[in-house]
Amino acid sequence: MENSRLVALKKELREKGFDGYLVSRDVNIFYLTGFSGASGLFVPVDGENTLYVYGVNYEQAKDEAKNCEVVLVKRDEKLEEKISKRVKASKARKLGFDELSAAFYMKLRRLLRGQARLKQKSELVWELRKVKSSHELKLMRKAAEITSKGMQVAYETIKPGLTEIEVAAEIEYAMRKKGAWGTAFETIVASGVRSAYPHGGCSEKRIRKGDIIVVDIGATYRHYKSDMTRTFIAGKPSKKQQKILEITEKAQEQAFRRVKEGVRAKTLDGAARKVIEKAGYGEYFVHGLGHGVGLEVHEPPTLNPQSKEILKAGNVVTIEPGIYIPGFGGFRVEDTVLVHKEKGERITNFDF
Ligand code: CO
Repeated sequence: MENSRLVALKKELREKGFDGYLVSRDVNIFYLTGFSGASGLFVPVDGENTLYVYGVNYEQAKDEAKNCEVVLVKRDEKLEEKISKRVKASKARKLGFDELSAAFYMKLRRLLRGQARLKQKSELVWELRKVKSSHELKLMRKAAEITSKGMQVAYETIKPGLTEIEVAAEIEYAMRKKGAWGTAFETIVASGVRSAYPHGGCSEKRIRKGDIIVVDIGATYRHYKSDMTRTFIAGKPSKKQQKILEITEKAQEQAFRRVKEGVRAKTLDGAARKVIEKAGYGEYFVHGLGHGVGLEVHEPPTLNPQSKEILKAGNVVTIEPGIYIPGFGGFRVEDTVLVHKEKGERITNFDF
């Protein structure tokens, strides 16, 4: 029995006139087979799926991969030749794929000339991955819960004199103790003027009294990610700091309130952007409102002014407006939000 994801993919392929699909993005292969570390997956509309694995991961693949035949790619063999033979045997004429390097695509196209055409169709897998199952949501809630714990520890730890790295160490240790498999991305603890870099990372810089500190963290739990940001002030905030922080929070809330099935991603972005623009800080909101989260920390649907996405129940997205003033500091408030039919639900949560 194939899993429902493969059944759904094959149904889509059939409806769109494809005879098969080639998967090469590792996370997509994991999504379809439960195994991470293969070099390719061939999914014919009819017949058995084939997973291609080099020796280093072969034994693990045989133990873990589901719904496919695991084929060893020996060191003296060429992956593109193995795949093209399998495709020819399947008699597939039209093949979709998620992504291939330019070099690999050229080689495969040459080998399949006169046999099968290749067409990129990455959205076929993304459409499936965007809507989370109840099992996936269970894991995502756990990742979010661990992340929220990390944020609480950030709040309790931050004080003048500590370096950004020391704060990051406490956060990551707390998340590990709560069961994190790892961090979803490199922890950001960006203080002082560095907080104005949206991707500031963390450094040896010591936190000083009055610093703004942007903490952007995420835990991974059983392959699923989470993403959350809070902005703290070391000590009592100045009037200007307090004001901009409140604008950022209000922008996040205005977007969050509008979350439900059927809403346009750009409508949410616009709701947050309007708050920031009205307050006179529009030019400092230098990124989109958010992004999907799941097996990857940045995945579709994307929430920005150009987005054509319409949200569906089961989407999990971030809502993270920010205001970044060079030389002064940056502010961002972010939660991972689950889309329901009638509302949104913050699955990361921490108030201070
Ligand atoms: Co994010």
